[in-house]
This record gives sequence, C-alpha cells and structure tokens, in this order.
Amino acid sequence: MAILKICKYPEPVLKKRTLEVKKVSEADKRLIEDMIETMKASGGVGLAANQVGISKRIFVFNPSEEDWRADALINPVIIKRRISEKTEEGCLSLPGITAEVRRYKYVLVEGLDIDGRHVRFEAKGLLARIIQHEVDHLDGKLFIDRLNPLRRMMSLRRFAKEGAE
Ligand code: NI
Repeated sequence: MAILKICKYPEPVLKKRTLEVKKVSEADKRLIEDMIETMKASGGVGLAANQVGISKRIFVFNPSEEDWRADALINPVIIKRRISEKTEEGCLSLPGITAEVRRYKYVLVEGLDIDGRHVRFEAKGLLARIIQHEVDHLDGKLFIDRLNPLRRMMSLRRFAKEGAE
C-alpha cells in the first residue's frame, strides 16, 4: 500500500467529471486500498479518486472517528434526498478552509462495492454529507462551488492566504 499525493485546488483534474468504472479491476482494488491509506494518513473522512489524480467514479469514506472502518463506493448514484441543513465542511483539496454548506440529512445511494457487487443503502448525518461531498468531487465540483459568489470568493481568498503550503 502507498500514500498518494492529494491534488489541491485549482488542479484541473478536480474540475473534470470522472469516468464510470465498467468492471472493478485488480488495479482499481489496489487504488482503493491506497486511497484508504491516504485518507487515514491525512485524517480525512472521505476521498475521491480524482483527488489523487485518477479520473474514475470511485470514492472511499470513513464516517467513524473511533474506529477506522473505511469502505469504498464505485459508480455512486444518489437516488433520494431528504431534509436539507447547513453544516461546516472542509476538503483535503482545499486545506486550511471550511465553510457552511447546504446538504441533505438523508440520502439513499447505490453503486458497487470493492468486489463489484451492487449495493444500496440509506445514509444519514455525517455519512450522508460525505457521500454528497464525494459525489460532487466525482462530478468535478468542490464544496466552494456550492457557496454563493461572494462567500466563494472570500473562501478562495482565505485559501490563498492560509491554505498554501
Ligand atoms: Ni473533498
């Protein structure tokens, strides 16, 4: 397993819609293991494949802070959304900044697991938020793109000042 380099805003791969996975290959499984390792190492709760430069519809997530029970979802589709709320959110591709983003409290999502099996489940709270954030990534969208133009500009200004390594 390896720790991968995380792409930061404004790298173009983050703005591009990612490609559907036709069949989950051994290379995809290795990528998922590396992504989980990378997510753990950076203390994130979710990571999309295009954040490590691979333009495929894959993300990994770990909604639990107590135990590292990370999982992956491939070709995710959100089928149902219920009740919106605003909560503070950050992103490994925009280190140093957070903002209040409107998301849904409950989502019904389906996709494939690491073994290529079809899965469908309802998620709530942090997991629901992670899923929406990561599906946005796979569509080439960052959380700042969910803000109004003024707040987006202020966030990017803050990122330029504090997020730069
Ligand atoms: Ni993110």
